[in-house]
Amino acid sequence: METKTAEIPDNYKITGLTHQNSYLVSGELKEWHGETAEVYSTISSTETYKPTLLGTIPQLGEEEAQSALNSALEAFDKGQGLWPTMKVEDRIVCMTKFVEQMKTKRDEVVKLLMWEIGKNLPDSEKEFDRTVDYIYDTIEAYKQIDRDSAKFEKNDGVYAHIRRGPLGVVLCLGPYNYPLNETFSLLIPALIMGNTVIFKPAKHGVLLISPLLEAFQSSFPKGVVNVVYGRGRVLATPIMQSGKIDVLALIGNSKSANALQSQHPKGNRLRMVLGLEAKNPAIILPDADLDLAVDECIAGTLSFNGQRCTALKVIYVHESVVEEFNRRFSYKVDQLKFGNPWEEGVKLTPLPEVDKPAYIQELIDDAVEKGAAILNDKGGEVTENFIYPAVLFPVSKEMRVFQEEQFGPVIPVVSFKDIEEPLDDMAESNYGQQVSLFGKNVHTLAPLIDTLVNLVCRVNLNSSCQRGPDVYPFTGRKDSAYGTLSVHDALRSFSIRTFVASKDNAYNKAILNELLDKKVSNFISTDYIL
Ligand code: G3H
Repeated sequence: METKTAEIPDNYKITGLTHQNSYLVSGELKEWHGETAEVYSTISSTETYKPTLLGTIPQLGEEEAQSALNSALEAFDKGQGLWPTMKVEDRIVCMTKFVEQMKTKRDEVVKLLMWEIGKNLPDSEKEFDRTVDYIYDTIEAYKQIDRDSAKFEKNDGVYAHIRRGPLGVVLCLGPYNYPLNETFSLLIPALIMGNTVIFKPAKHGVLLISPLLEAFQSSFPKGVVNVVYGRGRVLATPIMQSGKIDVLALIGNSKSANALQSQHPKGNRLRMVLGLEAKNPAIILPDADLDLAVDECIAGTLSFNGQRCTALKVIYVHESVVEEFNRRFSYKVDQLKFGNPWEEGVKLTPLPEVDKPAYIQELIDDAVEKGAAILNDKGGEVTENFIYPAVLFPVSKEMRVFQEEQFGPVIPVVSFKDIEEPLDDMAESNYGQQVSLFGKNVHTLAPLIDTLVNLVCRVNLNSSCQRGPDVYPFTGRKDSAYGTLSVHDALRSFSIRTFVASKDNAYNKAILNELLDKKVSNFISTDYIL
């Protein structure tokens, strides 16, 4: 495999370094003169391979973590803050202002997505556009929730005005594979519901937040959004130890989620919204349309080099069709073009984690040592920033590639005789996000679907696994998730039902009527937001 750097189009060239020398706390972009860390891309911009320096970010310390926490606490102000008490429609105005400003930064963010995490151009554009759509959809969903609450109920002589209110201060941590979209799928609903937020960008995909800092600063009241940079251990640990965080919102791995959760001294105060690892299987039945299954498995295993929590991470194929599937699948894997993100037709791109090729190599070596073969010609070819996906077969349970979430380009194929084999494996697995089921006969599919829906949270029929469309519930069982995200569900996850109740008598009725007529409460309102 060649490593030659194709010419970089002018609009994607790195012409200057991005020095992020401030962080957002208490509505101020505070200048930072302390320790910084260099941000490198694993993409080379020279003929001889060399990682590209993109810029620097602050390495804030415990003191700054504390000031971000104080800022968020002050903005919430024990429930009295401007933001948590603000009228729904005014919060929507702020969010709309933010998204309008964000849209003007598309080119900068897309370019940084390509350089920082190696996502190809169409997928980087999609990540940005999908996030913008997510914000607009969230606004609409919130309006609907508000409309549904714009009323009084009466039961057993008690009137109730029930709404959803914020939970408090949210610590928000996103993953490097969707540093914009997944982070914002937590941040945006958390904010719009009236919470205040401390947000630390992911380990890769940090600089792409810089173009949005001013929009955060100018769209929301001070202290509502706080953006900090540095190591999770240094920043997130003391914030959690304070016991003042109400929600841990994290998309990443369960190890970090467990570690952070365990730091919080008040377990019952802490709500969690977590999207974690998965090992989504594909199951290919004897009557499956193999061409369709191959295409869906290519997309499912290798979109963004397999660095997706929803990626297909193990393929079970019935023994009667496994040979044919492997032949067609391996052929197609080798047709995928590797290159830099902006190159036309590129499907496989440099891996942002420097140590990922070596890790994938370890998985391959372990599998080969235990009896698997690499089926495709290019499988395992290594360059400085990539390892070409290897199709491994036959894979068995003792192999690391079967047990670990590879989160990268390597594809284990397991042959089965009896459908109970994959079902047993799924039941034993620590994960339970999604499955892809390939087949046609409804009498075979029906009992399987009825079982699989109890093992995972989305059964994709003759389709690869994926999160979208974002209006659908995104969740998982066991170690795969905590809480449910979708445009609508996320608004629920970041809020709690809270209400005003009063006994039905003339005295209270007069007060309620006056509250409504004079529109003096932002909570008690039967106004219908159009
Ligand atoms: O990393 C996990 C993402 O939620 C996957 O989202 O299925 O849209 O790629 P996606």
